[in-house]
Amino acid sequence: MSVASNTAASPLAPDWLQVPADLNELQEPLWAGSVSRGADGGLTVGGVSVRELKEQFGTPLFVMDEADFRARARAFKDSFDAAFADICGGVDVYYAGKSFLCTAVVKWVEEEGLRLDTASGGELAVAARAGIAGSRVALHGNNKSDAEINRALDMGLGRIVVDSLDELVRVGDLAQARGAQAKVMLRLTPGVHAHTHEFIATAHEDQKFGLSMAADTTAEAGISAAEEAVAAAAAHPGIELLGLHCHIGSQIFEPDGFALAAEKLLRFLAAMQEKYSITMPELDLGGGYGIAYTPVDTPRPAAEIATAMAAVVRSTCAELGIDAPRISIEPGRAIVGSTTFTLYEVGTLKTVRVDAPAAGSDAGNNVTYPRRYVSVDGGMSDNARPVLYDADYSAVLASRTSGAAPQLSRVVGKHCESGDIVVRDVYLPEDVAAGDLLAVPGTGAYCWALSSNYNYLARPGVVAVRDGSARLIVRGETEEDLLNRDMGA
Ligand code: LLP
Repeated sequence: MSVASNTAASPLAPDWLQVPADLNELQEPLWAGSVSRGADGGLTVGGVSVRELKEQFGTPLFVMDEADFRARARAFKDSFDAAFADICGGVDVYYAGKSFLCTAVVKWVEEEGLRLDTASGGELAVAARAGIAGSRVALHGNNKSDAEINRALDMGLGRIVVDSLDELVRVGDLAQARGAQAKVMLRLTPGVHAHTHEFIATAHEDQKFGLSMAADTTAEAGISAAEEAVAAAAAHPGIELLGLHCHIGSQIFEPDGFALAAEKLLRFLAAMQEKYSITMPELDLGGGYGIAYTPVDTPRPAAEIATAMAAVVRSTCAELGIDAPRISIEPGRAIVGSTTFTLYEVGTLKTVRVDAPAAGSDAGNNVTYPRRYVSVDGGMSDNARPVLYDADYSAVLASRTSGAAPQLSRVVGKHCESGDIVVRDVYLPEDVAAGDLLAVPGTGAYCWALSSNYNYLARPGVVAVRDGSARLIVRGETEEDLLNRDMGA
């Protein structure tokens, strides 16, 4: 068996991964608007260099571009408002707080004219602390506790999105007991499953969320759970039925799935309005708009998706002869995901040689190729997505530029687990060394939010950078924070 040299295009790399022409380049559209390379070659964000950030706040660190967050929030609001202006006077955009939530972000969301979608009592607590009006907040969850429902009622929430028949009755009863009416949306499963590049429509959704729209042939009246819920909501004195909701998935690029779900819900809404002589003034089409994690991801601008969705809502309402309900959406990832990169310091490096068929030859004629493992000072505790979803990311050398040759690398964390991968495949300069800083873009959504203390690592802080200054919006944990919860006996 022969030994191949460090060739640029490694046979170990996945087909989608190209060798970048320039390893120092920040490839579009992975980075927040203000990220660039400064005069010394190191990354800067909002006018602050990553080396300063490292010095002031340490690593690992989530670094968020505040202006970029605000711009993405505004882009959703403005483009959906414009596309739906003639249909329902605009769109209410609920930022999905589960993707990343802290009080600073709630304030930005409010200042940019958006609302807030929460999914637990804890997220409601953040909303309350941030001081957002309850009327601009929604609560989700497939298993809300009575305490969470009561908290929502105490805060005068604009909408509680009810997930099941059981819950509908509980929400109605709790509201009625206090002489109030809960504002309720019903979460339906329209049978549309969307993935990044495609969607499939099925008759029935085998999942925990929502009320099925498929007729239940075992039910006495042969009606769907969704219809049963509409009838029960309309009849319950503790419920003001605002309308219907669906959320078809996450990290979706094409608008077709959203459009089909909208059409299905509108047809159902029209049928229910007629059958039960009610009006449902609201339709929430959920979130799920995709972002770029690697250069091969091609998300659509918000305006393009808005236009496609508006066309279907317009034509379906016209065909059904109904007034369009007020539309709302719940983007999380597409607002916060690309605003943030994670800054890590490089530690241990090692190169292994892996067997693979020699380029252009038949299997059996194997050659070994190098794969370099670049260990960083975080890992699956600050980004669980590669482990959970096989998610791909990208990375660049952040503290300097390099003219060295590209080397296929795997960025890994420091946890006691071989699956602890941060970036599975990326070309980094051959001369990356301990003490260098790496930046992994696209970590604004579902990274800090999903972070853990595995191996007693303290969870990193989140820094917001704007106009040449950086401030912690969530401080990182200390060892003391971790030890404080250990009762010692
Ligand atoms: N609305 C509802 C009802 C949702 O369940 C979700 C996300 C959203 C809105 C926001 O979706 P987005 O626009 O962020 O895609 N942890 C997974 C994603 C879970 C999404 C859960 N629901 C990940 O890291 O990919």
